[in-house]
Amino acid sequence: MKVKVRQGTPEDAEMCGGICYNAFKTISEAHGFSPDFPAPEVATDVLRRLLANPKFYSVVAEIDGRIVGSNFMDERNTIAGVGPITVDPTVQNRAIGRHLMDAVHERAAEKNFDGVRLIQAGFHTRSLSLYAKLGYDVREHLACMQGNALGIFVDGHVVRPATEEDIAACNRLCTQVHGHDRGEELRDAIAQGSAKVVEHVGEITGYATLIGFFGHAVGETNNDIKALIGEAKEFAGPGFLLPTRNGELFRWCLSSGLRITQPMTLMSKGQYNEPAGAFLPSILY
Ligand SMILES: CC(C)(COP(=O)(O)OP(=O)(O)OC[C@H]1O[C@@H](n2cnc3c(N)ncnc32)[C@H](O)[C@@H]1OP(=O)(O)O)[C@@H](O)C(=O)NCCC(=O)NCCS
Repeated sequence: MKVKVRQGTPEDAEMCGGICYNAFKTISEAHGFSPDFPAPEVATDVLRRLLANPKFYSVVAEIDGRIVGSNFMDERNTIAGVGPITVDPTVQNRAIGRHLMDAVHERAAEKNFDGVRLIQAGFHTRSLSLYAKLGYDVREHLACMQGNALGIFVDGHVVRPATEEDIAACNRLCTQVHGHDRGEELRDAIAQGSAKVVEHVGEITGYATLIGFFGHAVGETNNDIKALIGEAKEFAGPGFLLPTRNGELFRWCLSSGLRITQPMTLMSKGQYNEPAGAFLPSILY
């Protein structure tokens, strides 16, 4: 079985989207969880946008000219975000995933990223094994949280839409907490209208690109993150990702009525700073 890996193009969206939907549905349902993508069109639409986005590197794997899997890498920051990676369920466990991971790691080395990160489906023994063998360390256990909008306001913490003028302050905050900024992602989120900042005593003390699967948030304290979660009108996609090691924030979410939809794991290879503050990672990392 000869596996060829090449760069992805927007024309691959239909095939890759179908495989992505099937791969996640099969593994989720085998473990009694809901699929991350509710329908094949949703997966195809997400991958079509990634395949057409020059800020994302994409690769597809082929056997005898037939697409059997794909992988992606978010190149907007100094730390690259790997995934979603999916392989056709009929040919899984035959090293295609490894080829697809090797391809994005070669690219990360060429482009001199400081590190790579990903979010792993916590119930999936195969992906956990594969990533660990490829050098990734487990950094955080995460709970994907979903539920009705909380409508909770945190005293002295004002949430408002973020603007371009806030980027420098948000980047300083992200660097203070994580050791690097995610300014390009924030810029995109501001353009899409989803980014929010929290102000406390006249200073920006937190921000979120989105409270949901595809958004990350950073705060000086848990109150900043609570204000962002409390104000969100919905939690987009399967939910937002919460580091369960942050027991105080985790219990606040649970006692506010939110439910855990699935466990996940933040893994990293290369530079990683122990976070010095509160945060929610996105599905990209
Ligand atoms: C995860 C996924 C991309 C991996 O691709 P794949 O082609 O099936 O995986 P590979 O065969 O390349 O690698 C699997 C590795 O895990 C090992 N492995 C599998 N199950 C294992 C277990 N229970 N314990 C230890 N090792 C295990 C295999 O032996 C192999 O390692 P090796 O290459 O050293 O032999 C693919 O299975 C998939 O699409 N899964 C569904 C979607 C998904 O979960 N995506 C990832 C989201 S985090």
